[in-house]
Amino acid sequence: MYTEEMLASMKKVEAARERNTDLEPRRMTAEEKETLLATYHPDYKQGEFAVLQVGPNKGEKVPTELAALLQGKSRVADLTVDLTHPAYDVDVLVIGGGGAGASAAIEAHNAGANVMVVTKLRMGDANTMMAEGGIQAADKPNDSPAQHFLDAYGGGHFAAKKELLYKLVTEAPEAILWLNELGVEFDKAPDGTMITTHGGGTSRKRMHAAKDYSGAEIMRTLRDEVLNLQIPVVDFTAAIELVLDDKGHAAGAVLQNMETGEILVAKAKTVIIATGGAGRLHYQGFPTSNHYGATADGLVLGYRAGAKLLYADTLQYHPTGAAYPQQIFGALVTEKVRSLGAKLINAEGEAFMHPLETRDVSAASIIRECGDRGKGVKTPEGVGVWLDTPMIERKNGAGTIEKRIPAMLRMFGKYGIDIRKEPILVYPTLHYQNGGLDIDTDGQSGVENLFVAGEAVGGIHDRNRLMGNSLLDIIVFGRNAGQHAAAKAKQVTVGRLSLDHVQAFAAACRQAGIESDVVSPKLLPNYARKAR
Ligand code: FUM
Repeated sequence: MYTEEMLASMKKVEAARERNTDLEPRRMTAEEKETLLATYHPDYKQGEFAVLQVGPNKGEKVPTELAALLQGKSRVADLTVDLTHPAYDVDVLVIGGGGAGASAAIEAHNAGANVMVVTKLRMGDANTMMAEGGIQAADKPNDSPAQHFLDAYGGGHFAAKKELLYKLVTEAPEAILWLNELGVEFDKAPDGTMITTHGGGTSRKRMHAAKDYSGAEIMRTLRDEVLNLQIPVVDFTAAIELVLDDKGHAAGAVLQNMETGEILVAKAKTVIIATGGAGRLHYQGFPTSNHYGATADGLVLGYRAGAKLLYADTLQYHPTGAAYPQQIFGALVTEKVRSLGAKLINAEGEAFMHPLETRDVSAASIIRECGDRGKGVKTPEGVGVWLDTPMIERKNGAGTIEKRIPAMLRMFGKYGIDIRKEPILVYPTLHYQNGGLDIDTDGQSGVENLFVAGEAVGGIHDRNRLMGNSLLDIIVFGRNAGQHAAAKAKQVTVGRLSLDHVQAFAAACRQAGIESDVVSPKLLPNYARKAR
């Protein structure tokens, strides 16, 4: 399966395996990390960002592709939308059918609200489903939420919104209990205690997992609960613009059926954006580990309605995307592979970095190794470094890979690569949107009655999220948004529905000299080949 050139390099990896398995590469100093990031991390490439000319973040930079969408042409621009006869009238409208949306819907329903979920694909077609390695919670005797806070705060470069991060870490143990009681099959020891491992940047083993398909197991359970509670879910229906009322408060959304194109209006007392990430925008040409629908739609809807973004210029490039074979290019190779003992090795067989540095540092280090240092291994799509998976069983015994990371074994096995015997090639892949819409501790954005949860939120993780804090945040902040949106809905009387904000935004764009034909939100990526 591997090319001759790869096999020649692999021989060096095998020759050095015994030494490298026992080696503990040192951690980088703070200064080394700073220089590394500034030189090699994609977030620092100034030419890849554009300054927003319109809206609440005017004057701030965001990725060029995102700027084009935020300041793009609304999908309702050429439509006449009848707002006087909404097809749906609910207390809480949840936009998005992933883990955050499902958690929000469950809690809003349990609080007595009349809830509806709309999702442009199907319930569970989301990044949650793709999450592999686990979910953090400080629930062991040697750990504490304070320790969890310090790890995440430092790993994120000390600028997270402290009140949000505090909520994340203090409510984490309860989130695990909630999921466990709903039926998530966490990995447990024979005595019933949860098995936990390290992730990059964690000082304690607090990663709870369901093998290496933790997200799928969590999403399965949440989706079942939504179905059991008989919460209405409108599939294949995208929100293409928020509706405000005459007080400027969120009051619903314009919906578009993805198959028929039919336009419908949903009126709601409160709205929750839970639309997930942006990997399918392929910032800077990176491949992605993200779900097909990850196109930053919620940021566009919220921004046009007046909600502020926070840290929208920071993205997470997961250090270990599959670099080979081509069929799985960019797919996630979970960090758990490294937490179980596999190390990153260059083409010369050298363990060039500590395997569990934080993600931004690890990604930048791999980019440097493959770039300026010239120690990458050539692949059909570019270049990669080795992740020496056979080390795992040297360290933990035969059978560990099949037991703890069976999805990885299967993913590579399909292409004739047995990760128990052969290392794999990896390179950073676009994985997570660190920034997003700014919220308060109730989950409410700057727009009254507009709540946000999950990957569409910015500020919880600062500029670099640690592994396992995303599955955690969709649960903690999903539930939180659902509870607060339901409570708020009890006090709301919706005024006259309006799309004036969309027209006002378009007028501001024209005034700024932006006449865009980029239609947004994007909804789905376009991979059609261009005619030659
Ligand atoms: O590597 C992983 O399994 C990814 C986890 C995460 O993004 O939290």
